[in-house]
Amino acid sequence: MARTVYIETFGCQMNELDSQLVCGQLRALGYAFSDHPELADVVLYNTCSVREHAEQKVWSRLGELKFRKAREPHLVVGVLGCMAERDGEDLIRRMPVVDLLCGPGELDKLPALLDNAVRTRSSLLADEPTEAGPGDNSERFDEYAAVRSLRSARQVALQGNSSRRSATLAAAQDTLELLDLSRAVSPDDHAGSAYVRVTRGCNKFCTYCVVPFTRGAEVHRPPDHIVDECKRLADAGVLEITLLGQTVNHYRFEHGSAATVNGIVQPQKGRSYHGGHRRDPFRGELTTTFADLLARIHDEVPAVQRLRFVTSYPRDFGDDVLEVIRDHPRICRFLHVPAQSGSNRILQAMNRGYTVEEYLEFIDRARAYLHQPEIGRPLTIAGDIIVGFPSETDDDFEATKVLLRTARYKNCFIFKYSPRPGTPAYDKLDDDVPESVKRARNSDLLALQNEISEEVGGEYVGQRLDVFVQGLSQRERKKAARQPAASGACAVDSAPGIVGLTIGGGAIGASAQHSFSAITSAIAVESEPGDSAEGGGETVQLSARTEGDLIVLFDVPAVQSESLIGHIVPVRIESTRPLALMGELDQAHAPAAI
Ligand code: SAH
Ligand code: SF4
Ligand code: F3S
Repeated sequence: MARTVYIETFGCQMNELDSQLVCGQLRALGYAFSDHPELADVVLYNTCSVREHAEQKVWSRLGELKFRKAREPHLVVGVLGCMAERDGEDLIRRMPVVDLLCGPGELDKLPALLDNAVRTRSSLLADEPTEAGPGDNSERFDEYAAVRSLRSARQVALQGNSSRRSATLAAAQDTLELLDLSRAVSPDDHAGSAYVRVTRGCNKFCTYCVVPFTRGAEVHRPPDHIVDECKRLADAGVLEITLLGQTVNHYRFEHGSAATVNGIVQPQKGRSYHGGHRRDPFRGELTTTFADLLARIHDEVPAVQRLRFVTSYPRDFGDDVLEVIRDHPRICRFLHVPAQSGSNRILQAMNRGYTVEEYLEFIDRARAYLHQPEIGRPLTIAGDIIVGFPSETDDDFEATKVLLRTARYKNCFIFKYSPRPGTPAYDKLDDDVPESVKRARNSDLLALQNEISEEVGGEYVGQRLDVFVQGLSQRERKKAARQPAASGACAVDSAPGIVGLTIGGGAIGASAQHSFSAITSAIAVESEPGDSAEGGGETVQLSARTEGDLIVLFDVPAVQSESLIGHIVPVRIESTRPLALMGELDQAHAPAAI
């Protein structure tokens, strides 16, 4: 019997990509998808542990499923991703509703685990007494108890299979490469834009961060695999590729020491990075550096119009990378390079390995190479800041405000420090900044960043920009969500606020494409005041991105919208808001309505 899967994704772009890869695998095996959990008999959450709040969302989803599962015992519930890795058996103990756990290090095994879980549930149900529960008579009670103990035994066995703790994460990486290599690249999956993984894991061990524990040690994918994947995506119509890595600019592959298993070149462990602040001294024939990789993709995959990468680590960002960006026109002049704090004392306590001065020196250097508004190619920069890190004083916070003013980010994600068990900061530092102070600093900084974002955005008013159309705006998608279900896709509840590409623009890739017909038909049913264009006809608001990753919102006739999504079109910028530019499509140069 065909199973219907609902998958919801929390956290960063790595998780979005993982969900897309998992969806591709399951689709190939005959699973169907729904956007609506209530229509699915397999519910999967791809989870994030980076802050407590991200985990709470999943706990509450699982809590709700308890009642549903009591009514529909065939339901299979799976927790994938960073929470599965971090919480392991504790998660199942706390939430027995969970049938399967699968950490990010072994998503290639998910189809087998899921098949196992589906069969396990079916066989348990076949064994289950059908008339009544315990208490009717002792014989039935014994039978019921036996089934229950069988169930928990199987659940634990399954969990033991599926959860791989950090000690074995590294061993999992080799087979995990197969997940990316087996990627489905049909045009239906991408809506013109796709992520490609460059590096897995992280070796930096910032004291507040769970990622090195949930994603394991840093490994770098062989450059040929990355370039081939980009080519296959381009052949499937992808115009925009975002390379992913936690410290993506530290990518390096040393060919002399590459290992091969069954003819497949294996990903390579990250070495401690000695790239140098200015230029990578190891660049040479035997090494593919990040600069080399960018240049290779640019030159070997000309159909890709926009090549981006996230997230950059501020230390050891070489001039060689900046030169490659400057000299290759289809590499976007955009950097997401989190500072985390403007205070040297706090940066040191965070183990970030750079000073504020070094950070700002890098920002200046990057602008000197790449900020060229006079030729229509400004550099935009996005950041992340944590407020309320242990011992942060008012002076430290003021220093962060100064950094924000100096860096002039186009947007910055601001997080309240969340102590994460197992991290060095949790073990060694008191979470001593009161919640009320964290909240006040958070809103103070948000207000400041909004002013800066509006100023940065204001520089574009009156210009005509080429924008990549991602899909319907959040406003339209909210409207559509109020409409009844139609076709299914991977629901990507990308938590806005982790990294630049998801905020305000919503889900890209699989979900944008798959949900499109459902959403446009929903829009045709519902119209609100102001939704009609002059001269009649429904309009919809589309969300797009500039080269510099600024969000642009603009209205078009509903009939035209489908022909624009996944394309690069010219838009004249009319006004600005803190999180988006408001524009108007240059109809004379846009694709015609279909
Ligand atoms: N690798 C990226 C960040 C990945 S995590 C980098 O180093 O820049 C995304 C963001 O979450 C971080 O930049 C940080 O700002 C935030 N973050 C991570 N751990 C956190 C914690 N314990 N509390 C609050 N914010 C946190
Ligand atoms: Fe976490 Fe630091 Fe690694 Fe980023 S670089 S993922 S913040 S440990
Ligand atoms: Fe979250 Fe894991 Fe990404 S903890 S931020 S989903 S790497």
